[in-house]
This record gives sequence, structure tokens and C-alpha cells, in this order.
Amino acid sequence: MASDDAAQARVTQRICDTIKTRIASGLLGPGDKLPSTRALAAEWGISRTTVTAAYEQLIAEGYVETRQGARAQVARGLGPSSPQPTRSASTTMTGQLSAFGRRLAEFPLPSVASAPSLVADFRYGDLSAADFPTLAWRKAVTGVILRRQPRLRYDDPCGSLRLRTALQGYLWRARGLRCEPEQVIVVNGSQQGLDLCARLLLDPEDRAVMENPGYTLARQVFLAAGAQVAPVTVDGEGMRTDSLPDASLAYVTPSHQFPLGGVLSAGRRRELLAWARRTGAHVIEDDYDSEYRFDIAPIPPLQALDGAGRVIYLGTVSKTLSPTLRLGYLVVPKALSEPFAKAKRLADRHAPGLEQEALAELIESGAYERHVRRVRRRNAERRMALLAALSATLGDAVTVVGVEAGLHVVVWLNSVPRHQEENLTVRAHAAGLGVYPVTPLYAPGSAADRPDAAGLVVGYASLDARSIIRGVQILAEVMDTVRRRGEVGR
Ligand SMILES: Cc1ncc(COP(=O)(O)O)c(C=O)c1O
Repeated sequence: MASDDAAQARVTQRICDTIKTRIASGLLGPGDKLPSTRALAAEWGISRTTVTAAYEQLIAEGYVETRQGARAQVARGLGPSSPQPTRSASTTMTGQLSAFGRRLAEFPLPSVASAPSLVADFRYGDLSAADFPTLAWRKAVTGVILRRQPRLRYDDPCGSLRLRTALQGYLWRARGLRCEPEQVIVVNGSQQGLDLCARLLLDPEDRAVMENPGYTLARQVFLAAGAQVAPVTVDGEGMRTDSLPDASLAYVTPSHQFPLGGVLSAGRRRELLAWARRTGAHVIEDDYDSEYRFDIAPIPPLQALDGAGRVIYLGTVSKTLSPTLRLGYLVVPKALSEPFAKAKRLADRHAPGLEQEALAELIESGAYERHVRRVRRRNAERRMALLAALSATLGDAVTVVGVEAGLHVVVWLNSVPRHQEENLTVRAHAAGLGVYPVTPLYAPGSAADRPDAAGLVVGYASLDARSIIRGVQILAEVMDTVRRRGEVGR
């Protein structure tokens, strides 16, 4: 059946990705033996055919080699710092790429294909189509087209002045953030904001400080720029700031630490800003989901406390409207406006004009803030449904953190040991549940303080209450199977 084939292909891909990640992080070295197909199939609760298919793919890509009668092993000459094999024999040899291109070879490229066969998908980052303000958006787009002659010429690289002025007002009302429109740079999502920051503020070998665990796509941007990333431990109050090393840049998510959810305490905010002033570092404040506060009072952004022009504020509409719009905004210190304008111009001239004008219209008319209030209520209901289902179905078997804000929580599975995290994820997918492990968000090889249990990043913004409850039931069943199989194996 097609859906069975698709499920098997996903599991095969996941095995390949897991083994590649272990090779890239040094957990598996050249010549190390892989588990036998029988052992891996038993451990993950899948068929040997699936494991064999994964090993064959890894052999074809050059990660793994076999000899007649012997167990598959990691290809000799492969290691964490050596150039990784190409994705397929037909793609470019990595040696022909720039140093930047070669550094990218270390990063996995997860599939973005949707998985229609899943009963519930807790994939973080997805929103519900039902939440998009279709009518208001259509009205805004039509208004832009009808009322203003579309201007068929290149615009300001920093974005339309109308949108930058609208954002200035919004950020003041919503976040107490003061800036001039000239400090606002409209970008293609936060991701481009991070990329521009890395280009402008990091040289190869510079150090970037970042939360651990933290946002993988920020870490990869800094590593791709050739920087050293210094992981800093995170606790319930966000990133620890008491002994930060000298660095060119710090990346933080102060309103809702990604992924663990702590809010950076007032003391740490002051300490971080004092560190930035002392060392001359810039601080990127990623305020990615601050619209979603449930049980806590609004906390002013770091940017509002910064009197020394060290903070670069980063916001996005990916959590309020849609991640597909690719619209975000930087608020940069005045001294950096011009370099950012030049870098943005070289990257792509400017963000798409029609969408910028439509967003400006939405903000000016008040429709955006009404929409934010509506989706905040809906996501508060989803969050309640998730927390109630976890408590009723799993009780003490789980510890849930980061619940006060945002669109995801981290769930520690107290009865499932950490080394079973991947196994549980694969089994859950096979049972129709999309869950996503927390371990890849930790810096590879870092000995970060973390529970010894498996952990999941659980996003709920795309699901209705029924799917959330069903998803938690499947999770409970899968946890039970993994736990029982673990006991049998002991
Ligand atoms: C920490 C963090 N920052 C930013 C974003 C948003 O990224 P973008 O604006 O590029 O869609 C996300 C999305 O998942 C995120 O988790």
C-alpha cells in the first residue's frame, strides 16, 4: 500500500539521518561497526528489510562499507572533521565547493514533505490553516492592488517605509520597543535575519555564544560562517550568564527559551547586556513567539534595556500568520542600519513588495492585532487540551516544561531512558504519531545538564483538541511498548 511504503521510506530515512548525525558528531568513527540488521530491527521494533534498505542507502552514499560476511561499518577515512560524502554519486564533489559549502556538508537536510498518513503530528513550527485570517489578508492584498498602482520597480532593500513605520508602531504597542523606522529591516523570515547577522558580525574562527539546547538553524548559520559556537547551559531562568566567554556575538531567546521555555530573568538580562558592553559583542534577541504568553506578564525585550546599541532584535510573522510568507524584521542599532541595508541588497534586493504592503495594511487597520488576540486564545485552548491529556493519560510518567508561553512544550518521558529517544520516535511514526526528539537541539558532544530521560519537543499549534488527545494516547502506548521491550532486553 502506498501509505505503508511512505511510512517505511520515512523510517529508512530516519535511520540514515541518525547514523549520519552520529558520524558527523564523532559518536561513530571510521571503521566502527554498525549494529547488525537483526539487532537494530529488534531495538527499533521495525522489520529487517527496513534496516537493510537504510544500510544500502548509506553504502550508496559512501558513509558505510561492507565486506562479505562481516558487519557493516563506518567507511574508513570518514570522521567528524573530514569532508562528508556527497548525498549521491551524481552530486557535486564537496572538494569543488567553497569552505562555506564544505561546512554545510556536515548538516543534515531534513525532509519537509508532509506525512498525510499520520494520525497526529506534533511537529513544531506548523500552524493550523484554519487560523489564517483569510478574509482580512485577501482584503489587504486586494486593497494594495486596487488602491495603489503596483509600482514595478525595485524598492528600498530595508523594506517599504510604510511597513517599517507600521512595525515601529506595532512593536511599541506590543513590546514596549522604541525605534525609528530606519532601524527596521524587513527580511525574508528570521532565518534571513540570522544569516545577515552572521555575514556582518562574524569572521571565521570568531566565537558565537548560544543557548544549549538551542535553535539548530541559528547554530548552523554561525557554524557555516566558520565561527566557533560556544554552547552555554540553560536552566529554568534561560541562559546562564555568569561566566560567558569573550565572543563576537550571543544568540538568545529571552522571552521563551527555545526549546526549554525558560524566561531570561531580570538579573541575567542585566548581566548579559553588561557582558556585551564590556566585550563589544552584539546580542541577537530572537523574539520568535512572544505573542504567545499565557500565564505570565509581558516582559520588556532586551532591546528596551539596551542603552549601548548592542542588541539586534529579531521578530517574525511565522508564528502569527504563516511560516510560508517568509516575512520577518530586524531592529538594528542605528550604527548598523547602513551595513544591513547593503547586505540585504546583495542578498536579494528586498523582501517581496506585495506581501510587505499587505502586512502594513493589516497592521494599520488593527486587523493584525485582533488576529493575534484570536490565535493567542485558540492556542491557549490547544495548550490546555495538551496539558490536560498529558496529565490524565501519562501523569508522573512525564515532566512538561516551558508551558507559560509559545506554541510548543518540552515533554520529558521519565520512564524512557535517553538512549531510547530515537527508537521511540521511529516507533511513534510507525504508529501514526509525529514526535520530534529534543537531543538534536543540544550541541553535539556537549555534556549539557539534562535529564537522563528521553525528551520530545511537542508543537500543538496545527492540531485540534481531538487530534491532540489521540496523539497523547498513541504516545502512551508507544512509551509502554518501548519500556516493556527495554525490560525484556535487560
Ligand atoms: C527559535 C526560533 N526562531 C525563529 C523561528 C522562525 O523562523 P522564520 O521566521 O525564519 O520562519 C523559529 C521557528 O521555528 C524558531 O524556533
